[in-house]
Amino acid sequence: MQVLFAPLQGYTTGIYRKAHAEIFGGVDAYYAPFLRVENGRPREKDLRDIEGDFESGRNFIVGAKTVPQIIANSVDEFKVLADAIVQKGFTEIDFNMGCPFPMQVSRHRGAGLLSDTQTVKAIMDEIARLTANGSVKFSVKMRLGQDSPDEAFALLPILNDAPLAHITLHPRLGKQQYKGAIDFTAFVRFYEECRHPLVYNGDITTVGQIRKMESGYPKLAGIMIGRGLLARPSLAAEYKAAADAVSISERDLLGKILTMHGRLYEHARSTYQGDSQILSHIKSFWEYLEPSIPKKAFKKIKKAGNLGEYDAAVQSLDME
Ligand SMILES: Cc1cc2nc3c(=O)[nH]c(=O)nc-3n(C[C@H](O)[C@H](O)[C@H](O)COP(=O)(O)O)c2cc1C
Repeated sequence: MQVLFAPLQGYTTGIYRKAHAEIFGGVDAYYAPFLRVENGRPREKDLRDIEGDFESGRNFIVGAKTVPQIIANSVDEFKVLADAIVQKGFTEIDFNMGCPFPMQVSRHRGAGLLSDTQTVKAIMDEIARLTANGSVKFSVKMRLGQDSPDEAFALLPILNDAPLAHITLHPRLGKQQYKGAIDFTAFVRFYEECRHPLVYNGDITTVGQIRKMESGYPKLAGIMIGRGLLARPSLAAEYKAAADAVSISERDLLGKILTMHGRLYEHARSTYQGDSQILSHIKSFWEYLEPSIPKKAFKKIKKAGNLGEYDAAVQSLDME
């Protein structure tokens, strides 16, 4: 089964994706955090982020690809963003209908679009137009609804008729954000009624869980993992490596985490200025890693107030 790295705004940046692919691997595709419209144009910062993923006419990662994602509340926004991505040479684009951030939902984007069948239909028609010559593919990443799972089931006939490569479903509601129970009953109904290849997303943290989904839902096209991969970057490679899920040793995992950190830290130091800016960027690398590193060092890293303290905290990890 395919393993896809979920887009996580502020975490899975271009430099993170590249370092992860080279150091850990096991991921079939990296979904970039969403590109949005700002003042009527694609946001420059988002465009720069995907730029490095596509060099010399191909995705930079051997054996994996980057799929840029867009978020839009109208066909007009959708077109502006899709055009910008196609112009960069990408041939696959994901459309976000799941973001629960109030800033986006209140502007009718992400999960805020799920109740608007008319706009979704118009966007699906645009997808049909853009995919007609076969040069670009689209997928959708969605939740069950903003307020009720009825929203996803009202949309499903429209989505079933659209030429989508696949749908990724995170079976929560937008109003739940990232917490609360996953609605497995609604997931199973969606799995049965969806005519496109379906990818499951939500709360996967172990190889055992991936295998359970694989055997329980044999029609699944893949698993998309976000926080589980941030917390244990080896998860996808471990799943791919062995049928019996042999874990890498904690020592090797720590070593690879430190190698990956080295790359991201170097990038942060050459990109940002001043301790607090550099620290605020590099500390997000550690945020979800608590389960994979010793507690004492984790606390020290979190507390570090300047680069001196930070370096000492990271070095203490190296001596564990
Ligand atoms: C901080 C953060 C940023 C996220 N940014 C995006 C995003 O840009 N696009 C998107 O489709 N989902 C985004 N998500 C949702 C994740 O891709 C994923 O659907 C969610 O975390 C559930 O999967 P998980 O339990 O494997 O993490 C974000 C989630 C978090 C926690």
